[in-house]
Amino acid sequence: MPDRAPIATTRRGLLVGAAGLAASAGALPRPAIAQGSPLRIGLMLPFSGTFAALGENIAAAFELHLQERGGRMGGRPVQVIRLDDESNPANAVQNVNRLIGRDRAEALVGTVHSGVVMALVQASRERGVPLVIPNAGNVAATRELCAPTVFRASFSNWQPAYGMGLALGKQGVKRAAWITWDYAAGNEAGEGFREGLRAGGGEVVRELKLPFPETNFQPLLAQVPGLNVEAVGSFFAGGGAVQFVREYAAAGLKERVPLCGSGFLTEGTLAAQGAAAEGIRTALHYGDGLDNPKNRTFRAAFKEKTTREADVYAVQGYDSAQLLGVGLDATRGDPAAERELVRAMRGARIDSPRGAFTLSPSHNPVQNIYLREAKGGENRVIGIAAEALADPGTGCRMA
Ligand code: PHB
Repeated sequence: MPDRAPIATTRRGLLVGAAGLAASAGALPRPAIAQGSPLRIGLMLPFSGTFAALGENIAAAFELHLQERGGRMGGRPVQVIRLDDESNPANAVQNVNRLIGRDRAEALVGTVHSGVVMALVQASRERGVPLVIPNAGNVAATRELCAPTVFRASFSNWQPAYGMGLALGKQGVKRAAWITWDYAAGNEAGEGFREGLRAGGGEVVRELKLPFPETNFQPLLAQVPGLNVEAVGSFFAGGGAVQFVREYAAAGLKERVPLCGSGFLTEGTLAAQGAAAEGIRTALHYGDGLDNPKNRTFRAAFKEKTTREADVYAVQGYDSAQLLGVGLDATRGDPAAERELVRAMRGARIDSPRGAFTLSPSHNPVQNIYLREAKGGENRVIGIAAEALADPGTGCRMA
């Protein structure tokens, strides 16, 4: 099979690059598929840094589903190629080029960080390489930069935060603050939180931010008592979330101004957060104690494979494999059979541990956003913050 040329980096930006390559896409040779030849899937994820645990769970659960399918998709044996993107946007284009060029990946799965994912979206738009996003919530990927071959098995940054804001507003909170890392995920989640709270009758009166992945929270926490707010909403995840939740409690704020947020704040982190997380309410498309057969089987299998408890990242990795499997089965293992692959994936109903979901027209899951409360080391589901919530997805025009 011929190598794909590296992605051209263009100073004129994503849209111009996409248009230019779309014009020549018809000229690309379509490789013949030898049924026995391994299908190379590039897993670009963070295996180091503040999101390392997230990447590990996504990869392990992706491989778990692959094992359940006997290691094959569309009849071809699958070879998984892992690449550590370190959640570093500066290296993202180079890393994608490595997967497509050097490693000859024919389909891509990645990543966690909203800044890094844009290089994968660009590659998929320009080269037609199928991409499944197993976490990163960057709204542009399924709004203005949506593309036929770009799919998300996770969430948009807007979705969980909207649910949280809405639930808070319905509880009667009128004034809240938003604290986060200053990058796409934190800011877009902030927008969702603001809209949800407004729909529930409240307002975000202040936003406090620090650069990703810094953890110098003290100057921000020192401002909270003076804000005159009834709640603090926040987006942090992974190692940063562990530290933020602990420092929020240590500063004596937990009892004075309840902390809440997108569910990543307490997801996969409760053991490390300990008592500091107890009672924190969050909203997410997954939670502990979801009683459906798929969830029970999945959690047992994941535990057996990794000795860890499953979390939302594991669920998203598993569902990424399910979704890609639908497309590859429909094309008998040919990731370049775009029309058939996209038709099958777009229409898929994924039997997820989170509950079954379908995709919106811009390829983002339509799903329940659960309200959870941290208790005894679990994010217990205590209600539904927003039922069958779709990202508003304005601006998506499929090529
Ligand atoms: C993101 O950057 O989109 C992101 C990272 C970690 C999360 C959720 C979203 O847990």
